[in-house]
Amino acid sequence: MTKKMLITGSSRGIGEAIARLAKVRGYDVILHGRTLSPNLIKLVEELEAEYVIFDVCKEEDVIQEISRVDQIDILINSAGINVSKPFEELSDDDWRSIYDINVFGLANVTRHVVPVMRASVGLGKIINIASIKGLYSSVGRVAYASSKAAVINLTTGLAKELAPDILVNAVAPGFTNTEMTKSTWSKRIKDQVESILLQRMADPSEIAKLVLFLVSSENEYITGQAIVIDGGFSIKND
Ligand SMILES: NC(=O)c1ccc[n+]([C@@H]2O[C@H](COP(=O)([O-])OP(=O)(O)OC[C@H]3O[C@@H](n4cnc5c(N)ncnc54)[C@H](OP(=O)(O)O)[C@@H]3O)[C@@H](O)[C@H]2O)c1
Repeated sequence: MTKKMLITGSSRGIGEAIARLAKVRGYDVILHGRTLSPNLIKLVEELEAEYVIFDVCKEEDVIQEISRVDQIDILINSAGINVSKPFEELSDDDWRSIYDINVFGLANVTRHVVPVMRASVGLGKIINIASIKGLYSSVGRVAYASSKAAVINLTTGLAKELAPDILVNAVAPGFTNTEMTKSTWSKRIKDQVESILLQRMADPSEIAKLVLFLVSSENEYITGQAIVIDGGFSIKND
């Protein structure tokens, strides 16, 4: 039976790249966005895919939309936001929105997808898109980075609770060329990108290739891990 993959945050960016590659590799794709944006409509048509619309923080909407789906074998949690500000400028609202979406929203979606996954045949797979910042924080990113550290820790906990039926892994990208990166672009980030060992940002399709390996039948033994894909950014400090 064809495997079905739900990708949150697939209206653009890394989620969109994962959806496109999943379609090429023969999966049935379920797209997702917070709203039915023009890009999401275009993707639904292009990939001939099902879609669900919900804010990951709104549990009732998540329940309602997930109840329309008959099968989910693979869940990719890619929906997320980034707020880039020095610690002393971060407001209570900034902290809450980051954690609401990146941590509680991810847990919310996963909680309601796992029972559907358990009812499907074969090994389930969950991939959480974390960030290299979740392993090594940086100036101006403390809220975002600590939310991604929570995602990495949540990944190990879920891998333990859901074994042996469901494999749970995180992918920790470095700078990747999406709208999220463009929205935080600055001289400092330009310098950081130039200091990456491979001297460039990742293309979202490169993150997608790693994700597609982890959810494929080629992987039946990696679980509870955070796999770094950052062009050598995190080891460059010498
Ligand atoms: N880009 C990078 O350099 C980078 C590096 C490391 C990790 N990451 C992580 O990778 C993931 C994807 O990032 P990206 O660069 O692809 O970001 P992006 O281009 O900004 O896309 C974000 C996606 O998340 C969705 N989303 C945001 N808030 C949501 C909410 N409350 N409810 C439902 N959906 C929501 C958006 O949906 P709408 O379009 O409907 O708003 C969109 O589909 C994120 O978790 C991010 O933290 C990114």
